[in-house]
Amino acid sequence: MKHIDIKEVFATPELIGQSVTVCGWVRTARNSKNVAFIELNDGTSLKHLQIVIDKAAGLDFEDALRLGASLRVVGTVVEARQGSVEINAESIEVLGSCPLEYPLQKKRHTLEFLRTMPHLRGRTNTFNAVWRVRSVLAAAIHKYFQSQNYVYINTPLITGSDCEGAGEMFNVTTIGYSTDYKNEEEYYADDFFGKRAGLSVSGQLEGEVAAMAMGKIYTFGPSFRAENSNTPKHLAEFWHIEPEVAFAELPDVIELAENMIKFVIRELLDTCPDEMKFFDAHFENGLIERLEDLISHDFGVVTYTEAIKLLQESGENFVYPVEWGCDLQTEHERYISEKVFKKAVFVTDYPKEIKSFYMKQNPDGKTVAAVDLLVPGVGEIIGGSEREADYDKLVAAMEERGMNLELYSDYLDLRRYGSVPHGGFGLGFERLIMYTTGMSNIRDVILYPRAVGSIR
Ligand code: 4AD
Repeated sequence: MKHIDIKEVFATPELIGQSVTVCGWVRTARNSKNVAFIELNDGTSLKHLQIVIDKAAGLDFEDALRLGASLRVVGTVVEARQGSVEINAESIEVLGSCPLEYPLQKKRHTLEFLRTMPHLRGRTNTFNAVWRVRSVLAAAIHKYFQSQNYVYINTPLITGSDCEGAGEMFNVTTIGYSTDYKNEEEYYADDFFGKRAGLSVSGQLEGEVAAMAMGKIYTFGPSFRAENSNTPKHLAEFWHIEPEVAFAELPDVIELAENMIKFVIRELLDTCPDEMKFFDAHFENGLIERLEDLISHDFGVVTYTEAIKLLQESGENFVYPVEWGCDLQTEHERYISEKVFKKAVFVTDYPKEIKSFYMKQNPDGKTVAAVDLLVPGVGEIIGGSEREADYDKLVAAMEERGMNLELYSDYLDLRRYGSVPHGGFGLGFERLIMYTTGMSNIRDVILYPRAVGSIR
């Protein structure tokens, strides 16, 4: 179906005076005495294209004024107010009509209401902007890593090992409900893979395999977590960017994370000015200034031990008590980034008991070379570490946790055959989108959110 993107109509002044064909859905329509107006949107632009129908021309347009209807319009591009353009319609064809009960009526709908119709909410300005920002950020992430010689690796989604070891894995099975098995072992032995399998919570372990051959790699795919966390920042299925770098220590991992975040935000601000102005106006006043400010300053760095001291001396009444050894809760993370540093801050060197087995053990015997990036408004968006490269120390950490070493034989081999210092991090893609758009619920930055107790 030959037509031109509405975005191109706005971006190409040479089209003025020419006849074009555009397609789209009716966002609003107005019928006055001599003229009718339709605001058409095809998804390529946040801005709608105005179609002007001169009633004297005798076009059959009544059905084309229905909100939600899809149209093909042929007409001449003409100059409009404020340097914009519109179309003087010569012919209008209704491709798909739309009944009056179309749920997206003109008035502004709440995000909660729109969440009940994930299949339609993309036709609102808010989700039009969110989906485009998502796409532009994804492209920027690839652009950054590709320009720095990283190799894009697709790690398996079905796995036999639970990377984070937190028991948050969804099972993958082809056996339905059955009382035929005496125990778990018998059940899994009879299952598709002959042993227990699940959806991967992280591509890191396989990412390390690739980094130990290709040097610098990144993954960008979905991770799955059966966490019972019904919060505005947790999904059961989220998109995860995980770079892994050989010959790198914790400061290198921190530098990479800061450079990447700054690069993708710059790209976003440059590529999506209309969308960012929209979010600034409707979701977070001062958003653009905040992001410009973020990328023009160094991020803060603080150790976990210092952060605990800052929290204890804050005089704040936190819901979760603060003492050395506790996991930082969102309220703590936000206090550190919003009140103390007032910017993005890396927290490093966490107690080994609250972090994963694979993190490099620090000489103090108490902490590991971990790093989280906390940002104002959201809290943690990145979690990473230098990895334990020493075979014996790694085995000891796994044994301490009662892990089945057999399941990790590939991973352990990497420490036997030419082990090198290395590290990486995981960036939650939806959390990055929340942070860069000011959207406060993670369910509003992914097409179909999957969260505990809800699937569609
Ligand atoms: O801190 P996490 O659990 O780290 C890992 O998975 C490491 N294997 C990463 C690595 O070193 N390669 O998760 C990393 C990030 C978090 O900071 C967060 O942004 C995001 O993934 N994340 C989630 N996002 C949405 N919903 C969830 N349930 C998430 N769990 C983690």
